[in-house]
Amino acid sequence: MPQINIINYPVLGLKDFLKSFNSKKQKIYSNQNQIIKTGSASHAINIALEKSIENGYKKIFAPGYNCEVVFLKLNRFKKKINIKYYDVKKDLTPENNVFNKLDSESIFYLVNWNISPKKLEKIRNKCKSKGSIIIEDNALCFPKEKQKEIGDFVIYSIRKFFPVIAGGILAIKNKKFVLSKKEIKKRKKMNIILTAFEELLFFFENILSSAFINSFLYNIFYAPIDLAHRAKQFVIKFNDTGTFQVPFDNSLCNYWLEKKEQILRKRIENYEKYQKAFKGRKYLKHDLKHTNPFGFVLFTEKNNKKIAKKLSKKGYKAGIMWELPQKFKTMKNAWKISQQHIVLPIHHQLSQKQMEKIIRIVREFK
Ligand SMILES: Cc1ncc(COP(=O)(O)O)c(C=O)c1O
Repeated sequence: MPQINIINYPVLGLKDFLKSFNSKKQKIYSNQNQIIKTGSASHAINIALEKSIENGYKKIFAPGYNCEVVFLKLNRFKKKINIKYYDVKKDLTPENNVFNKLDSESIFYLVNWNISPKKLEKIRNKCKSKGSIIIEDNALCFPKEKQKEIGDFVIYSIRKFFPVIAGGILAIKNKKFVLSKKEIKKRKKMNIILTAFEELLFFFENILSSAFINSFLYNIFYAPIDLAHRAKQFVIKFNDTGTFQVPFDNSLCNYWLEKKEQILRKRIENYEKYQKAFKGRKYLKHDLKHTNPFGFVLFTEKNNKKIAKKLSKKGYKAGIMWELPQKFKTMKNAWKISQQHIVLPIHHQLSQKQMEKIIRIVREFK
């Protein structure tokens, strides 16, 4: 069986995340655990794909239940790698069949919808037994001290949880993919124009969305701290991988460090309030001891768009994540979930009254 050298413990906790984003320089933590700060999770995906292809991986198995941004990224590599999509189970973990198709030239792309450590371990073992590597997309995971990670590449999207315009992390946990300092320098030169263009698009997109305080991302993943903080984020710096990034300032970093326990607890409390309110209905269940979900995924028979619309009218943003392209109609579960769910916000700034209002609105529909 091919040996895959994966380090089992989490690379960074929340504190380290914030500190690393607060420091000016990109840090390479060790020979095996390389942490690369990127402008977005998308850019981290880029680097992971480039490195895997460079190392001879020829196929990628990715979930058909996925974010538009990931589809776009994968498509960009379609001439260099064979892309195959797999269906998901009702709990959004990968269907079992896909593991039989893996081999030592395969990359397994996992979108981690806050999967429990136990299930993650099983997925990892199945991939390892086939000699495949894993790109673990944790863009929907709130970075926690004890986040269980199974990937050769682990990706986070900082900007989904914190009020910053840009921020992603790529943790490289397999020695053979680690970028040398020389490579990082070269990559910077090569990528700078391409990435700058792409990242700048994101940048403007984010400026636009932050201009509308009730915009989807800013409401569902976190609540804005204050606009002054945001204004400070409009400073752009290029980091060592050729991507631009917006540093956390000290006060923002300290705010999160001081409040993190409170914030994480409040998110769980809000999740539990929905659990109580929607008892008897179907929703995505999480192991709350080990994960901190980014939202409450309620399965609705129909009307999810109507619910989202009504909530939006009242100033609450709930998401449909994701509406899939028509070609995924063949994926039974992925398509059904896409049509029949709504993600309700759980961020820490929601008051009891607001939660009650959201629940009341959702209850008006089936
Ligand atoms: C699963 C997943 N991966 C990656 C991304 C891209 O994240 P970013 O906006 O940081 O590029 C998203 C974005 O929504 C996502 O949902």
